[in-house]
Amino acid sequence: MPTKITKAVIPVAGLGTRFLPATKAMPKEMLPVVDKPAIQYVVEEAVEAGLHDVLMVTGRNKTALENHFDRAGELEAVLVSKGDDEKLEKVNYSTGLADVHYVRQGDPKGLGHAVLRAKMHVGHEPFAVLLGDDIIDNRDPLLSRMLEVQEALNTTVVALLEVDPSQTHLYGIATVEPTDEEDVVRITGLVEKPPAGEAPSNLAIIGRYVLRPEIFEVLERTQPGKGGEIQLTDALEEIATGPTWTGGVHGVVFRGRRYDTGDRLDYLKAIVQLASDRDDLGPDFRGWLQGFAQGLGGQADDDQGGEDG
Ligand code: G1P
Repeated sequence: MPTKITKAVIPVAGLGTRFLPATKAMPKEMLPVVDKPAIQYVVEEAVEAGLHDVLMVTGRNKTALENHFDRAGELEAVLVSKGDDEKLEKVNYSTGLADVHYVRQGDPKGLGHAVLRAKMHVGHEPFAVLLGDDIIDNRDPLLSRMLEVQEALNTTVVALLEVDPSQTHLYGIATVEPTDEEDVVRITGLVEKPPAGEAPSNLAIIGRYVLRPEIFEVLERTQPGKGGEIQLTDALEEIATGPTWTGGVHGVVFRGRRYDTGDRLDYLKAIVQLASDRDDLGPDFRGWLQGFAQGLGGQADDDQGGEDG
């Protein structure tokens, strides 16, 4: 019987330099996407998929994150005294959302290193990794499908998205072969952020992984790769192409709505998309947006698709 997965690991130690000066004293994960910090969407996604045990791999300057998932006594007392139940519920919601744990990454040696820091907490069970820059629309479940595939095949599972060929240098890119299931592929090779024009496909890893505990021993011997960092993609490449005891790597091809908050342009797009869809803000916002877009007329430049820095 495969072990039931209960743990999610969320690496949050990045410095968020793309968003300076906003991130000088505040973690990038606390930037609001409409009216909710980006990190809360990700924790909600984990919980909706049944993963209530969340480990955040943090760094310096991340106290606001810990406070967000903790009681806020003074604020609660003020709202109670005012009888403002609606706001009180918003404050309390993130407190009780998950059982959140923290470990510091220490040296910023890359995503693979951040995941390795989860070893003690995770133990010998499969677990999920969610990257905070990607928000998956909760109407298009991805993580629950990945958990289902992991349970059925008992392998490592990553989320894949078809991206424009001009974007492949920003992602881990997979070479795949089909399986009997329309949305599941077997991964035969992985490369981290291939130079423009050299990607083996346009299937990009987006920030969701369901890993088996063997990943830790592979990461322990993974040498620094792209950017001098220990890359999770390189460890997964070893599992995908290595001996069969590791079970290989499968990909779930996601065709739903995903919002990238990783750089300023994508972050703006995510806010506009999510706000337009909201029942409370959407009708007014959409009306305004249409007028605003008409006013822009032919001013739009070509979409350069995000930043590199
Ligand atoms: C990381 C991974 C990359 C993956 C991406 C998904 O890169 O290294 O393989 O495609 O997340 O968002 P990062 O965006 O942290 O540079």
